[in-house]
Amino acid sequence: MDVDVFTLFPEWFGWFTSQRHVANALEAGSALRCVSYRDHTPLTGGQVDDTPFGGGAGMVLRVDVVDAALRAHYDCDPVQLRRQRRVIALTPGGRVLDEALVNELAAEPALTLLCGRYEGFDERIVEHLATDAISIGRYVLAGGELAAMVVCDAVMRKLPGALGHENSVLEESFTDALGGAPEYPHYTRPADYRGWPVPDVLLSGHHERIRTWRLEQSRRRGDAAGGRPLP
Ligand code: 6GU
Repeated sequence: MDVDVFTLFPEWFGWFTSQRHVANALEAGSALRCVSYRDHTPLTGGQVDDTPFGGGAGMVLRVDVVDAALRAHYDCDPVQLRRQRRVIALTPGGRVLDEALVNELAAEPALTLLCGRYEGFDERIVEHLATDAISIGRYVLAGGELAAMVVCDAVMRKLPGALGHENSVLEESFTDALGGAPEYPHYTRPADYRGWPVPDVLLSGHHERIRTWRLEQSRRRGDAAGGRPLP
């Protein structure tokens, strides 16, 4: 997968790409590039934002700046670019990221993530330059960079070779194997710690009983969290 992140803070992504599963995905042929809006702004002094029409607090990322950055990077009209790849504006009012959306994005060959800052994007960016608006939850962050990293983290760990064990992606929280319920609880040594024992069934060696127990635990957690119960 080919991921481009447009941001005012490209250097923030350095530590993110050093994460094992991201580094694995990059070694396996994926790419994560950061593009600075400031490097492409047509305005003087590296200006990228402006005061909102109609008044109000804060600053708004300008549509001409984002248009110029996309045009310079892809060497085409950004309005046409939307036919070739998903261009995602990260904004608190967007479609909330969940497992289904992560899977949808992981199936794409290429993604472009647009990070907003300040009060957000000029709405024409979302309307005319992006294909999607995505939020990572119903709360407001100071900018889209952390949200872009959350999207990349969730998507890139789905890519072949990102995780050590391919099975860990198949049977984990919220996947179809568990009926969309959260994952079952895990335990490791010691089998008893401070009088807190590991459930007997996990030490029994009965694979079928372990499987049944895990599915039941997963289903209960789903009910408790208001998640979708097993069919
Ligand atoms: Cl994508 N951006 C910002 N600024 N705040 C958010 C968000 C995105 N998702 C949740 N809160």
